[in-house]
Amino acid sequence: MAPRVSLSEEMGTALNVHSQAQELVDSFMKSAKIGATLDVAQIHKLAGDLQNSVSRNASALGCLGRIREKDNYLLEHSVNLSVLMTVFGQHRKLPADVMHQIVMGALLHDLGKILTPDEVLHKPGRLTREEFEVMKLHARHSRDILSATEGIGELTVITAAQHHERMDGSGYPEGLKGEQISVYGRMVAIADVYDAITADRAYHRGLTPTQGLKKLLEWSGDHLDSTLVKQFIRCIGLYPVGSLVLLDSGRLGIVVEINEEDQRLPIVRVMYHTKFRMPIAVTTIDLSKASNQDRILHAVEPGQYKIDVRKFLV
Ligand SMILES: [Fe+2]
Repeated sequence: MAPRVSLSEEMGTALNVHSQAQELVDSFMKSAKIGATLDVAQIHKLAGDLQNSVSRNASALGCLGRIREKDNYLLEHSVNLSVLMTVFGQHRKLPADVMHQIVMGALLHDLGKILTPDEVLHKPGRLTREEFEVMKLHARHSRDILSATEGIGELTVITAAQHHERMDGSGYPEGLKGEQISVYGRMVAIADVYDAITADRAYHRGLTPTQGLKKLLEWSGDHLDSTLVKQFIRCIGLYPVGSLVLLDSGRLGIVVEINEEDQRLPIVRVMYHTKFRMPIAVTTIDLSKASNQDRILHAVEPGQYKIDVRKFLV
């Protein structure tokens, strides 16, 4: 694993990896649409670069996953899912080869959406029953395209194929139940749901990270593997990057870097005082430093204070 570095040291590389990953997934989708050969070597390299960045400092790519353009959902989601799977896989100490394959699977999990008609894929309202059946085909398409591509590992195919399977058999495309779903399929389902519900979309605002983790607990058992959900919550942290938190002093801060040793003591950027109800000079505080007197009371909903968290992340 790459040695750890500070957030500011990693941010430049993370920005590069993030934009390269989006471009590559985009070009893969375009090639898949016309049935052209997919350049697998590039995606292998990128999956390696991405894992190295997360090992050096997971908060760098984590931050970028919280700052999204609303009209670029599919690409941002694919990249962010691979970041989440890297964090999750590293937490579970999976072997390097397995990690590599599942991170590739996360990057390419929605590849099959390139074959979903635009009017279904981009429909703003609720899908009709027939449209949903068409939408569901994307997981099967992802599986078929990837399994027909040379140089793509079996676990990459499984990760992509099973990302919508659910524990009670209500998922798709195969309606697999419980342990019929591979552990990687169960892991990616959790990360996929978490990323989807915490993302801002064109027509609604995403949940905060803390609310998103609570939802996962609600859905664990029937839909998601409850043991894996608990592990995911542990590795994403009490206050994931991008969480807005209220400090004992009355200041509000955004978590910009998590502290793996003690999740209650991340690095936060403060910018508002709730006692005076006014903005304050933006300052970054490491809560783990002995000189610091402040502590987190609890996470708060950014809408409550009309704060755009993304503005303060980088
Ligand atoms: Fe999907």
